[in-house]
Amino acid sequence: MAGPARATGGRRLCNCITLIAVSVTTLLLFRPIVTFVLPLNIDNPLPTTTTVIPSGFNWTSLIPHNPPKSITPLPSGKFHSFAVQHEFEPESPSDSSKRLSRRTAVKSAFDKCWKNYKAHAWLRDELEPLSGSGKDTYGGWAATLVDSLDTLWIMDLQSDFREAVKAVSVLDWANTTGTACNMFETNIRYLGGLLAAFDLSQEPVLLAKAVELGDMLYAGFDTPNRIPPFWLNFEQAKQGSLIAETHQISASVGSFSLEFTRLSQITGDPKYYSAVAHLTSVFEESQNSTAMPGMWPTFIDARNARFDENSFTLGALADSLYEYLPKMYSLVGGQEKIYEKMYLDAMDAVKKHLLFRPTTPDNKDILFSGSATVSQGVVTLGHEGQHLSCFAGGMFILGGKLFSRPDHLDIGAKLTHGCAYAYEAFPTGIMPEIFDMMHCASLDGCEWDEQRWQNQGNLDLPRGFARVQSPSYILRPEAIESIFILYRTTGDKTLQDLAWRMFQSIQKATETPYGNAGIEDVNAVNGKIQQKNSMESFWLAETLKYFYLIFSESDLINLDDYVLNTEAHPLRRPVPHYSSRISYN
Ligand SMILES: *[C@@H]1O[C@H](CO)[C@@H](O)[C@H](O)[C@H]1NC(C)=O
Ligand SMILES: *[C@@H]1O[C@H](CO)[C@@H](O)[C@H](O)[C@H]1NC(C)=O
Ligand SMILES: *[C@@H]1O[C@H](CO)[C@@H](O)[C@H](O)[C@H]1NC(C)=O
Repeated sequence: MAGPARATGGRRLCNCITLIAVSVTTLLLFRPIVTFVLPLNIDNPLPTTTTVIPSGFNWTSLIPHNPPKSITPLPSGKFHSFAVQHEFEPESPSDSSKRLSRRTAVKSAFDKCWKNYKAHAWLRDELEPLSGSGKDTYGGWAATLVDSLDTLWIMDLQSDFREAVKAVSVLDWANTTGTACNMFETNIRYLGGLLAAFDLSQEPVLLAKAVELGDMLYAGFDTPNRIPPFWLNFEQAKQGSLIAETHQISASVGSFSLEFTRLSQITGDPKYYSAVAHLTSVFEESQNSTAMPGMWPTFIDARNARFDENSFTLGALADSLYEYLPKMYSLVGGQEKIYEKMYLDAMDAVKKHLLFRPTTPDNKDILFSGSATVSQGVVTLGHEGQHLSCFAGGMFILGGKLFSRPDHLDIGAKLTHGCAYAYEAFPTGIMPEIFDMMHCASLDGCEWDEQRWQNQGNLDLPRGFARVQSPSYILRPEAIESIFILYRTTGDKTLQDLAWRMFQSIQKATETPYGNAGIEDVNAVNGKIQQKNSMESFWLAETLKYFYLIFSESDLINLDDYVLNTEAHPLRRPVPHYSSRISYN
C-alpha cells in the first residue's frame, strides 16, 4: 500500500479495508428445508439427493425502488470457439515423472493448509497460519471454504469436496458479521467460487447458493442510476436507499460481468447479464473522454457516472476492469464486439503510455506496465512494478489469441518475463508488492550503466531496482497466473522449471506449522524473514491452483473451454457440446 488513502486492490480491494461496522443482521430461526433431486451427470456421478437450507432472507422478494428500464437479453446467436491453447505433444516418461513429482509437492502444500483450515478455522473466512486460529474478513461466510471448492475438485480431493459442499448447503447469506459486504470481493470470491465449482461438478447445492447470493448482489444494483456502490449495506438495500459513491474504485464497478453473465447463462434468467450490460455501456460512453482516452481512471464518480480523475494503471484499483473485457468476449462466444473494441482501444492507450522497459545488468528484453497521472494533457509515467499488475501478461496473451494480435502475444510474454525476472532478482526469490525500476528511454532497450545505478539506485536492492515502496509478499497469484497462461499457449517447458523455482522459493519463505503466511520483506536474507499471521483465501483459490495446473495435463481446465475469473475460478464457456444446458428466455 503506497499511502494511507490508497486501497491496495482492484483484484484485491479488501486487503486494507475492513468491514465498516459490525452487527449481526436479523436471523430467521425457522428456515424451510428444500430437497433437490440431482440429475445424474454421466461424467461426474454424484449422490442422488442433497439438502439445501435457504438463507434467512429472500432477496428476490424485495420490490426494487429503481427497476431497470428494460432487460437486455443474452446474446442468442452462434457461439464461436477460440483456439487458445498450444497443441501439446505427448511427453516423455522422464518429463512426465518430473512434472508429477512437482505436482505432488503442490498438492501436499494445499492439503496441509486444508487440513489445518478444517481443524482450526472451519467455516471461518481465513486460517491464521502462525497462531492456528480463524478469523472473519469477508462477511463470515467461510470465504476460504467457498473460494477453495473448485481447487478441491481440480486436485481430485473428492471427500473433502463433498464435505465442503455439505457446509455450503447450510450457508446463510443473512447470517453475517457485518452490516454491509464488499460487493467486489463477495462477487469474485464467493459467487465466482460457487459458479465455477458448479460448472465442474454440476452439484445443484452450489447453484442454489449461487442464485441466492447473485440475487443479494443484484439488489446492490438498485440505485438511482443502476450502478452499484462499493459497499452493499443490507438495511439500505432493503429500504431502497442505496446509492453509488462519488469516489469509487473503478474495478469495483467493472468486475461483475463474468460472474453475472455466467449466472444468466446457467439459470436462463437474463436480469444479471442485463445489469452488467448497462455498466458496460456506461464505461463505453466515457472511454474516449477521460484524461487518458482509452482508459478509465482508478477512481470514478459512480454516482454521477463521471470519469474525471487523473490516475491510470493496470495495477491496483483498476486491474480486473480491463481483464474482464476480453474474457467477456470469450464467455459470450465472441458475440459482443463491444468488448473487443473497448479492450483493444484500452490496450492502445496502455501501449502508448504505460509500458516501459527496465534496465537490467544483462539487458533483458522484458516489460512492465507502470502507473501514470495526467495533468493538462501531459502524461507522467511512474516506472513502477506491482505484483497486482503481473496478471497483465496473461491478459495480453489471452487477448492476443482471441483477437489474432501477434504484437499482443509478444507484449504478454515480455510482461510475464518481467515479473519472473523480479521474482528471481530478490534474495527470497519472490517479487515485492510495489517497487520502482530504473528504465530505458525506449522499449528497444539500452546498455546497462553501472554508474547510473550507483548514483541513483538504492544499493541494498538488486541492481536495476530503484526503490521498494512495499516490500511484502502476501501469497499473491498474479505472476504464476501469467506464467501458466504463457505455458498453456506456447508449450514452453522452461516455464515449468521457472514455476518450480518460484514454488520452492515461496514455500521456503512462507511455510508455517499450519499453512503459509505472507511475509514482510522479500529483500530479507535467509533466517531474517518475518511472517505475518495472514493466509488470504486466494492462496488456496488461485496461487496453488495455478501451480497445480502448470504441472498438470494440458486438458485439465483447458483454456479453450474455460474463462477464469479474477479469482482463478474457471467458468465454462458455453461451447456447442455444452450448450444444451442453457436455455435463453
Ligand atoms: C423467494 O421469493 C420469490 C419471490 O417472492 C419466490 O418466487 C421464491 O420461491 C422465494 N425463494 C425461496 C427459497 O423461498
Ligand atoms: C451464523 O454463522 C455463525 C458463524 O459462521 C455460525 O456459528 C452460526 O451457527 C450461524 N447461525 C445460524 C442461525 O445459522
Ligand atoms: C475512440 O477513439 C478510438 C481511437 O481514436 C476510435 O477508434 C474509436 O472509434 C473512438 N470511440 C468512440 C466511441 O468514439
